[in-house]
Amino acid sequence: MKTPIRLGTPLSPTAVKVMLLGSGELGKEVIISLQRLGVEVIAVDRYPDAPGHQVAHRSHVIDMTDGAALAALIEQEKPDLVVPEIEAIATPTLVDLENSGKAKVIPTARAAWLTMNREGIRCLAAEELGLPTSPYRFANSLEELKAACTEIGFPCVIKPVMSSSGKGQSKIDGPGEVESAWNYAAAGSRVDAGRVIVEGFVDFEYEITLLTVRALNADGILTTHFCAPIGHVQVKGDYVESWQPHPMPQSALAKAQEIARKVTDNLGGLGVFGVELFVKGDMVWFSEVSPRPHDTGMVTMASQVQSEFELHAKAILGLPVNTALRSPGASAVIYGQHDAKAIAFEGVADALAVPGSDLRLFGKPESFSRRRMGVALATADDIDTARRRAKEAAAKVKPIMSR
Ligand SMILES: Nc1ncnc2c1ncn2[C@@H]1O[C@H](COP(=O)(O)OP(=O)(O)OP(=O)(O)O)[C@@H](O)[C@H]1O
Ligand SMILES: [Mg+2]
Repeated sequence: MKTPIRLGTPLSPTAVKVMLLGSGELGKEVIISLQRLGVEVIAVDRYPDAPGHQVAHRSHVIDMTDGAALAALIEQEKPDLVVPEIEAIATPTLVDLENSGKAKVIPTARAAWLTMNREGIRCLAAEELGLPTSPYRFANSLEELKAACTEIGFPCVIKPVMSSSGKGQSKIDGPGEVESAWNYAAAGSRVDAGRVIVEGFVDFEYEITLLTVRALNADGILTTHFCAPIGHVQVKGDYVESWQPHPMPQSALAKAQEIARKVTDNLGGLGVFGVELFVKGDMVWFSEVSPRPHDTGMVTMASQVQSEFELHAKAILGLPVNTALRSPGASAVIYGQHDAKAIAFEGVADALAVPGSDLRLFGKPESFSRRRMGVALATADDIDTARRRAKEAAAKVKPIMSR
């Protein structure tokens, strides 16, 4: 299957069909961008009425970690492109389908497979590509973990090899905390509860996401583009605030771009990558990479001419992209604050009265107190003002339990 540069009419024999695996808030925005180009979109998630389901042509509810179910659905829908939006997918099945010519996976099935496991991407980055990373070891048991922590030293960070959004992750300061970190990792792991990575704690000044786009230019030549660096704040491994551009010295930016280029060249394919980096002075460490739009990149809906979602949609279709910044901007997450279905939001008008602000409410059918239900966006002439505005707007939105 070749990259579909000719676009068609949805729901007709000429349609270009794209299947999203995962249809959360990031997928929803990719789908909207695809819809604008007349692409037929099939949204898949593990629960009904996911945000992306609500804006797609068709939707399906399956367990995407079930390889047989995934293969059957791809066989049934025969999409031109399969676009993973989350990590928890039977990626070996995607590799098989791609190898046998039955699916074209974005950016590549191998990239989806390597990045769903911290071990795959860390070994590629540090050992094969020689990129600077925190020191690390892997462990399969509490005994092995104790030995690994002693080798790495304290403080260190312990994470299940298969987890995201900070689940099961802890920073520990001494040997007395190893056992509780082990138990916490086992509880937060997606699968394979017994394997963890221990990383030396990087005492960074700031961390960035460098959105990197592999796209064909107007002459059909594959080109790597970099968006302006995005700064962000993480609480318990979950992003709460981001802004763009994050100021950084030219020398550090050049290193960041070199790292991002090496890792994305290796992963290959077309689309947006979120390269996570730690920075101190002009030292830069590779942390991890998402072969898809990144949650901290939601700020680009306000700050860039083309958001990361539009960039992804265009790049995967083989179209040229524009990564220019429009204005300094910021995003601030709106949490559900309640454990309830069908919550409502008050204060929306007040939020939108904040100068330069905008809002996305994702439409998730069920809220949890720490579930991301929306995001406030803001632009301003400088990032400090943009951050203040985004936080102010987010705070004005009040999730309430509906009757
Ligand atoms: N070795 C480290 N040294 C210092 N801080 C770290 C280290 N590893 C992780 N962190 C902090 O924890 C955050 C989350 O870590 P990481 O990105 O590895 O987890 P994750 O579960 O994949 O999160 P997400 O899915 O949100 O990207 C990082 O953004 C960083 O703030
Ligand atoms: Mg991360």
